[in-house]
Amino acid sequence: MRTPQWRRNMTTLHRADSGRYHIETWGCQMNLHDSEKLAGALERNGYVRAGSAEDADVILLNTCSIREKAAEKVFSELGRLKQLKDGNPNLLLGVCGCVAQQEGEKIFGRAPYVDFVLGPRATSTLDRVLADHGKATLKPRVVDTEYRKDSIQFPYDAIRREGLTRSKAYVTVIEGCNHRCTYCIVPTTRGREICRPMSEVIAEVSMLADQGVHEIEFLGQTVNAYRDAEGNTLAELLIATARRTGIHRIRFTTSHPAQMTDRLMDAMGEARPSLCRYLHLPVQSGSSDVLKQMKRGYDRETYLEKIAAIRRRIPDMRFGTDIIVGFPGETEAQFQETLSLMQTVPFDTVYSFTYSERPGTRALEFGDPVPLGEKMERLHRLQSMQNQIQEQRNQDWVGTTQPVLIEGRSRRFSDRWTGRTEQHRVVNFTGAGQEGSIRPVEIQRATAFSLYGVAAPGGA
Ligand code: SAH
Ligand code: SF4
Ligand code: F3S
Repeated sequence: MRTPQWRRNMTTLHRADSGRYHIETWGCQMNLHDSEKLAGALERNGYVRAGSAEDADVILLNTCSIREKAAEKVFSELGRLKQLKDGNPNLLLGVCGCVAQQEGEKIFGRAPYVDFVLGPRATSTLDRVLADHGKATLKPRVVDTEYRKDSIQFPYDAIRREGLTRSKAYVTVIEGCNHRCTYCIVPTTRGREICRPMSEVIAEVSMLADQGVHEIEFLGQTVNAYRDAEGNTLAELLIATARRTGIHRIRFTTSHPAQMTDRLMDAMGEARPSLCRYLHLPVQSGSSDVLKQMKRGYDRETYLEKIAAIRRRIPDMRFGTDIIVGFPGETEAQFQETLSLMQTVPFDTVYSFTYSERPGTRALEFGDPVPLGEKMERLHRLQSMQNQIQEQRNQDWVGTTQPVLIEGRSRRFSDRWTGRTEQHRVVNFTGAGQEGSIRPVEIQRATAFSLYGVAAPGGA
C-alpha cells in the first residue's frame, strides 16, 4: 500500500516542548472533532495543552457561522483575547473553522491583532505557521481559505481525543455538502463533498476498538451521501463496521432525509444490534411549501414515509430532528404544520432555531419578513409542546434497566454519574460506575431532558 503523504511527514514534525496551546470550539460535532485534529497537529509539533487561555502560547478559536449570533460570539471573544495579546507579543492567535472561511481577510479588519486565519479545509497550513512561531521570519497575517481535496486525509492516529471522546469517538467519513438549502452557509464554509476510503475508516475504527472505545459516531454534514472511490456507501460501511471492528455502538450524523435510500435502511437493519436505535434526521419544517422554498428536496409526506420505512425495519427506532421557525414568508398555518408533524412522528429530541439570514445564501432574496418577536413566540410554543412530548416519551424508560455509557461525574451533583443510553437519553445515576464504561442502570424517574436512576448489578 502507498504511504499517505501525512505519514511520511509525521516523523519530521516532532519537536519537543514548543509551548502551550489552548483551543476554544463552537458549533457542530464536525467542529468539535476538527478541534481534536488541530490539537493533534499542535502536539505533533511539540506543544502541550495549557490549563487556560491565560497560560497559552498559541490560542485557536475554532468557529461556527451557522447563525449570525454564533459568528458574532467569535468577535466578542476576540475582543477579550486582545488584552492577552497586548500583554504577550509572542502569543500566536488564530481563527479557524467556518467563520474563518466565510470572513477570510476581513477578520483582520475587525481584529488586526489576529495572526492567522485558516478555513476548515486549510488546517494543514497550521504546521507551517507553527514552524515559524517565535522566529523573525514569521509571516504576519497568514490567510488560507483554500478548499483542499486532501483535507480529509488526516493522520488519524495523531488525533487528540479528550475525556469522553476516549470512550466515544467521532470518526469523519465525509466532509463538505453538495446540497444548496437556501438558508444555509455550510456549502460555502465547508466546500463540496469529499469522502475517505472505506478501508481507512475501518482501520481507524479498528484502532479505536483496540484502544477500548465503545461507541463511534460517523460524521459528515450529509453523512448518508458517503460514497468512496470504490463505490462503498454508508450501507457497506455500517455493515463492515458491525461485522469487522468489534464496536458495540455505532451512530452516524447528520443524515439528509432525501438520501435515506432503501439500501441504507436495509443495511441499518442488518447492522443491528451494533447500530444504535436513535437517528437524527433533520426535517426543518412540516410544511411542504416551506420545504420547497428551502430547497430541501423532499416534502412532508416523503419525510414521514422515510420515518415509517425505517420503523418497518427497526420498530423501536427513536428519532431526533432540527427545525427552523420563521423562515421567510412562513405563515402561522405553515408553522402549525410543523407542530402537527412533531405530534405525528413524535421525536425524542428537537433542536429548534429561529431563522437567521446568512451571507451569500439564496434565501437572502426573500428578505426576513417574519418579525423577530413572532419568530421567538413560535419558537417558544414549539419548545413547550416538545417538552411535554419529550417528558412523556422519557417516561417509557421508567422501571426499565438500560445500558449506559458513562461520560463522567455529573457537573451538578458530584455524587452522581452521567451518561447516555443507546437511544441518546441522558441518564444521571448514583452507585457504582467508572468513566468510559458501559453499565446497566435502573431508571427510576424521568423529566423532559434527563432520566434518573441507580446502578444495577452486573456492570463494570
Ligand atoms: N447538514 C445538516 C445541518 C447542519 S446545520 C442538515 O442538512 O440537516 C445544523 C442546523 O442548523 C440545521 O439543521 C438547521 O436546522 C440549522 N440552520 C442552518 N442554517 C440556519 C439558518 N440560516 N438559520 C437558522 N437555523 C439554521
Ligand atoms: Fe446546510 Fe442543507 Fe447542506 Fe445541511 S444539507 S449542511 S442544511 S446545505
Ligand atoms: Fe457551524 Fe460550520 Fe458546523 S457553520 S454548524 S461549525 S459546519
